[in-house]
Amino acid sequence: MRFDLLTLFPSIFDGYLSESVLNKAVQNGLLDFHLHNIRDWAEDKHFTVDDRPFGGGPGMVLKVDRVVPCVEAVQKMDDNPGHLVMLSPQGRLLTQPVVEELAQKDRILLLCGRYEGFDQRISEILQPDEISIGDYVLNGGEVAAMVIIDSVMRLIPGVLGDEDSSRLDSFSSGNRLLEEHQYTRPREYRGLEVPEILLSGNHQEIDKWRLQNRLEKTQKVRPDLLEDEQK
Ligand code: 6GU
Repeated sequence: MRFDLLTLFPSIFDGYLSESVLNKAVQNGLLDFHLHNIRDWAEDKHFTVDDRPFGGGPGMVLKVDRVVPCVEAVQKMDDNPGHLVMLSPQGRLLTQPVVEELAQKDRILLLCGRYEGFDQRISEILQPDEISIGDYVLNGGEVAAMVIIDSVMRLIPGVLGDEDSSRLDSFSSGNRLLEEHQYTRPREYRGLEVPEILLSGNHQEIDKWRLQNRLEKTQKVRPDLLEDEQK
């Protein structure tokens, strides 16, 4: 799967992209990343990419005549123009079903904004899949783009060592419960003991305990997930 990252701050991705699981997947040819600086498509001598909003107001707006040529040029860098995602707090919400949908693509372009936003005509011309990662405001789309990469790459066969570890994740299709409590050695720490049942070797009872634990935890922390289930 090919990812193209379009940003004004490519270096934000450096540390993340050199992380080991990701790096191994790149070396194995499963993932491929290409960074593009939107500023490279500014032809004026000050390399302008943003301007003040018409009608007044705070902040700066990303210019349509910089972003559109940049995206179109990047689309042409491969036979497959790819699926264009625009990171924006105005987008549809990223959930695990959306992640599963994105994981089917062969190529994804992640367009990251900064400042107050994108000129509206960028969306009208490019018709991107606008995605938000939650109801809060970030300074820019870069961190959200990393959230998308991180969640999508887990679903690419071969990227994780153990296939089950993503299939059994909370929120994957047909799984709307939080994960159960996990323990490892030591058996006792500061007076806190591991639940006896987990040491019993009785797998039927362990599975029952785990399901009960997940239901209780979900009821307490995210009752909305159980309500959704009944719809
Ligand atoms: Cl994708 N971008 C920005 N700037 N803020 C956000 C977001 C994206 N998702 C949630 N908040």
